[in-house]
Amino acid sequence: MDNKIQLAAQLIKNSKHTTAFTGAGISVESGIPPFRGVNGLWSKYDPIVLDIDYFYSNPNEAWIKIKEIFYDFFGKAKPNVAHISIANLEKKGLIKSVITQNIDNLHQEAGSEIIYEFHGNSQKLICTNCNKTFNVKNINLDNLPPKCDKCGNVLKPDFVFFGEQIPEYANTMSFNEANNADVFIIIGTTGEVMPASIVPHTAKKNGAKIIEINTQASSYTNSITDIFLQGKATDIMKKIELAIS
Ligand code: APR
Repeated sequence: MDNKIQLAAQLIKNSKHTTAFTGAGISVESGIPPFRGVNGLWSKYDPIVLDIDYFYSNPNEAWIKIKEIFYDFFGKAKPNVAHISIANLEKKGLIKSVITQNIDNLHQEAGSEIIYEFHGNSQKLICTNCNKTFNVKNINLDNLPPKCDKCGNVLKPDFVFFGEQIPEYANTMSFNEANNADVFIIIGTTGEVMPASIVPHTAKKNGAKIIEINTQASSYTNSITDIFLQGKATDIMKKIELAIS
């Protein structure tokens, strides 16, 4: 494993444009369960709570579960060593950007600056009628569903529900990064959800070297991954950062 860590570190150190692509696995060691696999959220909750049609027809029932999963739980999570290593490598100019499928805001809190949020962010709520936006910290989630103080309509978390479009800017910038990267680090994702899961394939097609960090094989491991570093994101990212410095 150590020589693979050294190889990955050298690739990043000598790269012109390294981009990190992260999924739920990078936040597991911050206490946020993944969606799939052991203890996955989708084994405890019905994914329908994040279906946009269900939300519009059952805002109250949807909000009760959304609050439980994404606000009561996520709210206390802090960035872990993996998020911080990525931010440190960005400060050294060795990672140019992060594309994340996560909505937990932990890359921002770790200090990363160039972040493209493919599925939006849970910190912002948006009015389903007049599009006024709110910071969730200023909204009392004891009264559900939360209502807009301007027009009285239901507020929705400003992250992407199943059946919704990917935010235009994040989509465009993510594929730009995949086109520009000569090294692409995939961290903690099954690669099962489209269209996010296409992004690493685009990087590969454009000649990027693919480094993958995961506790187990994913849909990328035996298809596009060049260096598979099996293990926890915190352990592996720390070793890579130490090998680079
Ligand atoms: N370190 C590294 N990888 C880990 C760790 C860890 N400590 N723990 C789990 N993993 C890996 C798992 O092996 C799995 O491959 O993280 C991945 C988590 O997979 P998912 O739960 O499917 O998360 P993700 O791929 O990000 O899901 C994509 O699905 O439900 C939607 O919108 C949601 O963004 C999410 C999308």
